[in-house]
Amino acid sequence: MVSARDVLESVINRVSVFKNKEVLYPEYVPKRLPHREEQLRKLAEIYKVMITAPGSASMRAMLVGGVGVGKTATARVFGRELRALAREHGIELRYVHVNCHRDRTLYEVVAEIVRQIGAPVPLRGLSPREMMLALMNFMEKNDIYALVTLDEFDYFVSVAGNDAVYFIVRLYDEYPDVKKRISFLFIARDLSSLSYLDPTTESYILKHVIKFDPYKSKELFDILAARRDEAFYEGTVDDEVLQYIADMEGVDKGGQGNARAAIEALLLAGEAADYEGSHKVTIEHVRKAFSHVHEDVVRVSEVLPYLQLHELLILKAAINVLKRKSEPYARIGEVEEEYRNICTIYGVEPRKHTQVYEYVNNLKKMGVIEAKVSGKGFRGRSTLISIYMPLDALEKQVDSLIEKKLCGRPAGAK
Ligand SMILES: Nc1ncnc2c1ncn2[C@@H]1O[C@H](COP(=O)(O)OP(=O)(O)O)[C@@H](O)[C@H]1O
Ligand SMILES: [Mg+2]
Repeated sequence: MVSARDVLESVINRVSVFKNKEVLYPEYVPKRLPHREEQLRKLAEIYKVMITAPGSASMRAMLVGGVGVGKTATARVFGRELRALAREHGIELRYVHVNCHRDRTLYEVVAEIVRQIGAPVPLRGLSPREMMLALMNFMEKNDIYALVTLDEFDYFVSVAGNDAVYFIVRLYDEYPDVKKRISFLFIARDLSSLSYLDPTTESYILKHVIKFDPYKSKELFDILAARRDEAFYEGTVDDEVLQYIADMEGVDKGGQGNARAAIEALLLAGEAADYEGSHKVTIEHVRKAFSHVHEDVVRVSEVLPYLQLHELLILKAAINVLKRKSEPYARIGEVEEEYRNICTIYGVEPRKHTQVYEYVNNLKKMGVIEAKVSGKGFRGRSTLISIYMPLDALEKQVDSLIEKKLCGRPAGAK
């Protein structure tokens, strides 16, 4: 019989196929970006004035494309390289990356820019405009420039609205004579959300649009190969394994062309190999992995870390109700009731009804849940909530995020 100690020792001592697993995590910024040279070149054309004639103009451009096509990675890599190059020219240029799923209002966005630049501006008691002016003063005094990326900008447009967007985009219109120390880069999944804006603001943003197409199988192979070499021990992942993933995901082979899903499949396949104690990652491990990387779960897993605690609790409530009912829709009343139960279990104060409603709306806007208003039933109209993806996979992620949020909480806080 195998003793508990043997099991422990074999797990602890087992060699892994991974040399550096973090390279496969979504937040990792890659060293190189195969097949995005064209986009990087366009960015360089637009923002080169920040190095050749700093302060002369505030530039704006928009990256557009679906999920997992490298928009965020390209912005970060560009920002990293631009900063390094500026330094060589004796220019202090900061790169600021704001995710609008987390920072949703104008106030939050400006406060986040202030925080990342490290300006000593009080974040309480000031309006966004006052904060921004203080920031601009600080940058002037210390001779600092910044490229500010607003990622998931379509979400900001739909939540913060026209005036907020106007404020950001037309920042320097009021002060034509000051040095233009801040340039902006916007990232969006599609341009339809911008039709909410007034036409001048829209045309201001759409001056330079850089498109990102879904990846072809061949391109995904190159991206995967670069990651493999950094993440795995040599000889543990053969080319045919990468080719298999690339063919599953490549847009020219009927896939979504999503590099995030491809890299995640490689990570999960490696973990499956480790779990079995195998020294090689096989096609069979990839098959197992793919059963876990449902397209929509991958898409949503990008949004989940930015949800607030109570949004996660409501999402968990919706999952619970849908699992119990085996019907496609859950009534918002049922979800709210379940949410209150969950709050009791976790020992947190539930939010008021109107706030719950707003959270449900946010979850819908972010594409995590579907919500529609029912036809008039005998209890009147009601909002119906649905989730179009495997609930188990989603639940696992939601649970671990809730736990993380609750652990990080100061004792006694709500
Ligand atoms: N051309 C590329 N080269 C290397 N890695 C890439 C490339 N494109 C995307 N990735 C990786 O794929 C994942 C998804 O890319 P991301 O930039 O987050 O996509 P998007 O922001 O368009 O949804 C990230 O892990 C990213 O590092
Ligand atoms: Mg992104």
